[in-house]
Amino acid sequence: MQNNQAALILAADNSPLQVGQGPYQSYPAADEVVVQVAAVAINPSEWKMKEFGYLPLKYPHVLGSDVAGTVVKVGEEVKRFNAGDRVIGHCLGLLYGGAKHRGFQNFTTLREAVTAPIPDAVRFEDAVVLPLAISTASVGLFGHLKFRLPSAEPVDGHGDGGGQRHRDKVVLIWGAASSRGSVAVQLAVAAGYGVVTTASAKNHDYVRGLIPDGGKNVAVFDYRRPNAAGNIIDRIKVRGWKFVGAYDCIGLEESTRACAEVVHAFGGGILPSVLWPPQDLPSDVEASVVHAIRPGTVAGSPGSRVWREYLPQALANGSLRPRPEPEIVGSGLDKIEGALNLHKAGEPILIVKFNRKWRFCGSAKDAASD
Ligand SMILES: NC(=O)c1ccc[n+]([C@@H]2O[C@H](COP(=O)([O-])OP(=O)(O)OC[C@H]3O[C@@H](n4cnc5c(N)ncnc54)[C@H](OP(=O)(O)O)[C@@H]3O)[C@@H](O)[C@H]2O)c1
Repeated sequence: MQNNQAALILAADNSPLQVGQGPYQSYPAADEVVVQVAAVAINPSEWKMKEFGYLPLKYPHVLGSDVAGTVVKVGEEVKRFNAGDRVIGHCLGLLYGGAKHRGFQNFTTLREAVTAPIPDAVRFEDAVVLPLAISTASVGLFGHLKFRLPSAEPVDGHGDGGGQRHRDKVVLIWGAASSRGSVAVQLAVAAGYGVVTTASAKNHDYVRGLIPDGGKNVAVFDYRRPNAAGNIIDRIKVRGWKFVGAYDCIGLEESTRACAEVVHAFGGGILPSVLWPPQDLPSDVEASVVHAIRPGTVAGSPGSRVWREYLPQALANGSLRPRPEPEIVGSGLDKIEGALNLHKAGEPILIVKFNRKWRFCGSAKDAASD
C-alpha cells in the first residue's frame, strides 16, 4: 500500500485538507488488520480537532474514527479475519497519535479487537455509523455504569410495555437521536434494561423505531419542553420503575444538568457524559467523562466483549440496527473537507464514500502486499 492517498492536515492553521500521499499501510502489527476503506463517517471531534487542535498532532496528520471497508492484510496473530472480509472498525488514532491508524485515507490499519465483520446485506455506508458510537456506548454503559453486557438474542418487552427481562430497571439515556444515543439506547435494551430517553418531538418515532418491538422498551420525552427532567422523574416514580443510572450522550451543560437532576432525585451516583461536565452538580452526583480512546483493546474488558462477542452476532441477526441513517455527501477524499463543514453547521451524520472498487486476488494473508 505504498500508494495510499489520504486527506491530510498539513499544519495547525485550520486550512483545508489536502489530498496527498498518506502513510504506508503494508505492515500491520501482529494484532492488526489493514483495510481498504470504502466509507467513512464524520464525527464532531474531527472538525473540532482540525479547528481547535485540542490535542497536539504530528503533521501531516490524518483524521477519521469510523471506517467500513474490506480487509486486505492481517497480522500474524489475527485469526478472526481474512483478506476479502467486509468489516467496520474504530480507528484508534488518538491512542497511537499517528496518521497510520486514522480513517480519512484509502487504506487504514485497525486493531483487530475493534474490528467487526458486517453481513453482505449491510452496506458499508450504513454500517460505518457504528464504530465510535459502539465504543462510546460500551465505555459509558458497561464501563462506567457497570451494566450487564448486551445479548444479541431478540429482546422481549420491558420498560414501558411490560415483558420479561429486568423490566423494572430503567436507565436514562439523554439524546437518543444523536449518533451516540442511538447506539446507547439499542445496547441498553439489548442488555435487558428499559430506557427512558429524550429527543425532539419530530424524532420520537425514530427513537421508538430503534428497537424491533416498536419501542415497548423505550419511553421518550421531548427535552425541549419545560421541566423535562422533572417529568422524567415523575414518570419513573409513577410507574414504579427502578432507576439504575443515567448516561448523557449529548454532553452540553444543559443536558448534563438535567441528567444530574434525575440521578440526584434517585439518590445520586455515577453520571457518565460524552463531554466534560460542569463542576457544580449536586454533591451526590459523580460525573465522569467517557473516553473512547482505547475501548475494546484490553482483553476481557466490557468494550472488548461488546466488539468481539456481541457486535458480530447482533449485526448478523439484525438485532442491532445501524442508526442514524446516513446522509451520503459524495465520493472521494476530496469531499471530506466539505463534509466536516456541513457537520459543523449542524447536518446530521454524514458519510463519504470512496470511489475505488475493491479487487481481490491472491492469497488471503498477502492480498495487499505491494
Ligand atoms: N467522549 C467521546 O469519546 C466522544 C466521541 C464522539 C462524540 N462525542 C461527543 O458526543 C456529542 C454527541 O455527538 P454525536 O456525534 O452523537 O452527535 P450528533 O449525532 O450530531 O447528534 C445530533 C443530535 O443531538 C440531539 N441533541 C442536540 N442537543 C440536545 C439536547 N440538549 N438534548 C437531547 N438531544 C440533543 C439532536 O436531536 P433532536 O434532533 O432530537 O433534537 C440532534 O439531532 C458531541 O458533543 C461529541 O463531541 C464524544
